[in-house]
Amino acid sequence: MSRALQDIISELEQDRSLSEPDRLRERSEVLDSLETWRHGSLPHDVHAEAAVEAGLRHRIEALCAALESIDGQLCRSIRQDIRNGSGAHRLLEWARAAAVGRDAGAEVRGDSYDHLDELISGVLQIDEPEVPLAGLAAEMVFYQPTPARHIFDMAARTALDERDVLIDLGSGLGQVPLLAAICTGARCIGIEWEAAYVECARRCAHALNLDRATFVQGDVREADLSAGTAFYLYTPFKGTMLREVLDRLKAEAAGREIRICTLGPCTATVAQEKWLQVAGSWEIHRPAVFRSA
Ligand SMILES: C[S@@+](CC[C@H](N)C(=O)[O-])C[C@H]1O[C@@H](n2cnc3c(N)ncnc32)[C@H](O)[C@@H]1O
Repeated sequence: MSRALQDIISELEQDRSLSEPDRLRERSEVLDSLETWRHGSLPHDVHAEAAVEAGLRHRIEALCAALESIDGQLCRSIRQDIRNGSGAHRLLEWARAAAVGRDAGAEVRGDSYDHLDELISGVLQIDEPEVPLAGLAAEMVFYQPTPARHIFDMAARTALDERDVLIDLGSGLGQVPLLAAICTGARCIGIEWEAAYVECARRCAHALNLDRATFVQGDVREADLSAGTAFYLYTPFKGTMLREVLDRLKAEAAGREIRICTLGPCTATVAQEKWLQVAGSWEIHRPAVFRSA
């Protein structure tokens, strides 16, 4: 086994294609496969020879560090483009490439993450909250970010432009408004209960010069929704809270046409609303888009 491991490492060390910036997915797979050996135990027979073990550990660490450094450079250059206002095409290229690379027909769980999420995390570099969270009330759903592929999918299917205001209802750390502001012409607002998340999202928007992404702390049930032309819900709440917010959206739709995009279990509830029509096809593992009638 130690021989086999050494052969694998040698092969990876010589694989120059891994240094090409667009081999992000391949680098991610290699880093995943080396994770156990990098931080855990090596195959049993490697332990027999301390020098072999130390040498192998050193090579694994150097290989991982080299691959991470390429990813780091890639993320820094995309961040710079975003700051200069030209990040959209870079991110959209990555999103397209990732969509092509996904196995056609293979069922991908709607809430699973992939190498596109690793790229987005490196690009946005959203901080962790520095202060304790306030805690959620009953029926509020804890924070979980929308997988990046769904954000690009939603932005493409809603064709958001300068006339639009996208409001993410329960925006967490702000990934949806941030990416939508980078990749579309829309003004993007996140409304979030947890003040600590709002601060993190604001810092990220500021660091990336994203004036069109703003964040409001508050309860969606009481927030101002009057500017929104498109609303996004990644199942932020359930039960009577969801009912109350849907009634508020219905009232907004009495004055203008709005679109509502959903992901996760709340989609089934939203689909029952008589004042909404589903736009296009609705697939269980993708965001659904509804239009007010
Ligand atoms: C599943 S996460 C979605 C996060 C984000 N929209 C995304 O897709 O990446 C739900 C978020 O909604 C927030 N939330 C739940 N109830 C809320 C309410 N009534 N008002 C504001 N935010 C709420 C939670 O704190 C959490 O951050």
